[in-house]
Amino acid sequence: MYRSHNCGALRASDSNKEVTLAGWVQKTRDKGFMIWVDLRDRYGITQLIFDANRTSPKVFEKAKTLGREFVVQVKGTVIERESKNPNMPTGDIEILVTELNVLNTALTPPFTIEDETDGGEDIRMKFRYLDIRRNPVKNNLLFRHKVAQEVRNYLSAQDFCEVETPYLIKSTPEGARDFVVPSRMNEGQFYALPQSPQTFKQLLMVGGMDKYFQIVKCFRDEDLRADRQPEFTQIDCEMAFVEQEDILDTFEGLTRHLLKEIKGIEVDKFPRMTYDHAMKTYGNDKPDIRFGMEFGELNDVAQHKEFAVFNAAELVVGIAVPGAASYTRKEIDNLIDWVKRPQIGASGMVYCKYEADGSLKSSVDKFYDQDDLANWAKATNANPGDLILVLSGPAHKTRTQLSALRMEVATRLGLRKSDEFAPLWVVDFPLLEWDEESARFHAMHHPFTSPKPEDMHLLDTDPGKVRANAYDMVLNGNEIGGGSIRIHDKETQKLMFQHLGFSDEEAKAQFGFLMDAFQYGAPPHGGLAFGLDRLVSILGGQETIRDFIAFPKNNSGRDVMIDAPAAIDNKQLEELSIKLDLK
Ligand code: AMO
Repeated sequence: MYRSHNCGALRASDSNKEVTLAGWVQKTRDKGFMIWVDLRDRYGITQLIFDANRTSPKVFEKAKTLGREFVVQVKGTVIERESKNPNMPTGDIEILVTELNVLNTALTPPFTIEDETDGGEDIRMKFRYLDIRRNPVKNNLLFRHKVAQEVRNYLSAQDFCEVETPYLIKSTPEGARDFVVPSRMNEGQFYALPQSPQTFKQLLMVGGMDKYFQIVKCFRDEDLRADRQPEFTQIDCEMAFVEQEDILDTFEGLTRHLLKEIKGIEVDKFPRMTYDHAMKTYGNDKPDIRFGMEFGELNDVAQHKEFAVFNAAELVVGIAVPGAASYTRKEIDNLIDWVKRPQIGASGMVYCKYEADGSLKSSVDKFYDQDDLANWAKATNANPGDLILVLSGPAHKTRTQLSALRMEVATRLGLRKSDEFAPLWVVDFPLLEWDEESARFHAMHHPFTSPKPEDMHLLDTDPGKVRANAYDMVLNGNEIGGGSIRIHDKETQKLMFQHLGFSDEEAKAQFGFLMDAFQYGAPPHGGLAFGLDRLVSILGGQETIRDFIAFPKNNSGRDVMIDAPAAIDNKQLEELSIKLDLK
C-alpha cells in the first residue's frame, strides 16, 4: 500500500494516527535542527516535519537531500501544529515522519509549480505534465470532468444513449478543411477525420436510436483563435420525432441544469432572438447580453445634413456607452485608434458626449445642432452622462466594427463579468450564405439543415432570404452550441444539393449513403452540438479553451510537447504510396 491517506485528507481529529502518504515535494524549509516539507498530490498539501530530536538521524539526513518535485513516500504520526495555518484545509496538522522512501528523484522543474508560476505559455506547454501539477490547470481539468459527468447524467436520465461513431470517415462538409489520413490498404485513397459526426447521427436516427448523444472529438483544419482548437470536443446530440421547439426545450434544460449544478445559478427561460434582430441590434449573431449598449441606427437623423461622410454611408450606427461622457480626450483618441487598427478597419469614429447637465457636445458640432444630437441620443437610448460612439460605412462591415467596439468598451468598463451568465437562443438563421470567393451560395450551417417550409418558395428567386430551422445557443457572447432540424426526405435533400451547386453525380458520390438511407423510412429528426471546451471554459469564467484542455495545440496547430506534426520516414511513405514533392 503506497498510502493510507491522500495529501488533502488529514485534520486535527486524525491526531496521533499512524499514516502513510505519498506525493511530490513542493518545497522544503531547512532550519538546521528542523526540516519542514510541503508534500503535494492531486488532493492537497500536507506539511511533513523532520525534527532532529524526534526523528531518527538516518531519516533526518535523508530529508536533507530532498529536492523540489522528488516523489516520496513517508510514514509518520499525525500531530497538531504549534502554529496553525487557517488558509489550508490540512493547516491544523503536520506529520512527524518516522520513515522516508524516495520513490524517484526529479530534475529541477523549468518553472515553479505554484498557482502563480514564473513560466511563460511556451515553456508550460512544452512541459505540460508539470503544468498539470499546478492547481489552476489541475482544477480546470477536474472542472471539465465534472461538467462532462453532469452532461452524461442529465442526458442519460432523459433516455439519451451514448453511441460512438467512427473517426476514419469520408469528409463531412461543415465548412472547414478536413484532416486526412492516407489508407495503406487502399492505395491513393484517404480517410477524413470527422469535423463532426453529423451524417452518422442522422443515420442513427434512421436506425431508430431515437435519442443519441456522444461526447466526441471533432477535427477541423482551420485558423486557430482563443476559442478554437484543431481538435476539440462536442457534446453531440440528435433526436427523432421532434420539432425545433422540442430541441430548444431539451437543451435549454441541459444548460439550465449545468448552471444550477456547477455554478449554483438559477436562470429563467432563455430569451430568443432572431438572427436578423441580433445582427441589427448587436452587429453579430452571438450577442453578449450581459450588458446593453444596443445599436441605434442614425441614418434618419444624421444624414441629409452637411456631413459628407455620413451622407455617403450606407449605414450610420451608434451605441451609448454608459457613464463614459467623462472620458478624456486621450481616452477617446485611444478608442479611435483602436477602431482604426487593421483588425477592426474603421476609417474613423464620431463621438458625442451627453453631459450630465443634458447638453450635447460632439466631434462634428460644425454640422449638427443640439436638436440633431438630441435625436442621436434618443436613437441610441443614451442617458445624461453617456458617451455616444458612431461609425458609418457599408452596412455589414460597419455593424461588425461597431460590434467589436461594443465588446471592447464593455471589457474596459468591466461589464463582461465572468460570474454572470446570460444565455440565449439565436434562431431563424439564413439557410444559405453567399461566398464571394467561390461566387456561389454555401450552406450557412450544413447542407442537411431544413429550410423553413414557408420560405421554400424563395429558394429559386431569392435564395439568400430563405430562413432555416437552425439555431445557436449563445452564452456571454460565445456560440456554445448550434444545430438544426434536418431534411429527412430524399427529394428535399436533392434540391438542397442542387442549390449548393452539387451535380447529381457529385451529390451521389459524396452523400449517396445518406440519400439512400432516406429511402428506408427516415423519421423527422433534428439536433445540436455543444462545444464542450467552450462551454467548460465559459462556465469556468475564462474564454481561452486551451486552459481547459489537458494537451492543447498552440496557435500554429502544433503540440510542442510531443513535437507534432512531424515528418514520417520514407518506409512509411512508401507503404502509403505517397511521394512528397516539397518545395
Ligand atoms: P457547429 O459547426 O456549429 O455544428 O459546431 C458545434 C459547436 O462546436 C464548437 N466548435 C468548436 N470548438 C472549439 N474549436 C473549434 N474549432 C470549434 N468549432 C466548433 C462551437 C459550436 O457551436 N454538426 C453540427 C451540429 C448540429 O447541427 O447538430 C456542428 O458541428 O461551440
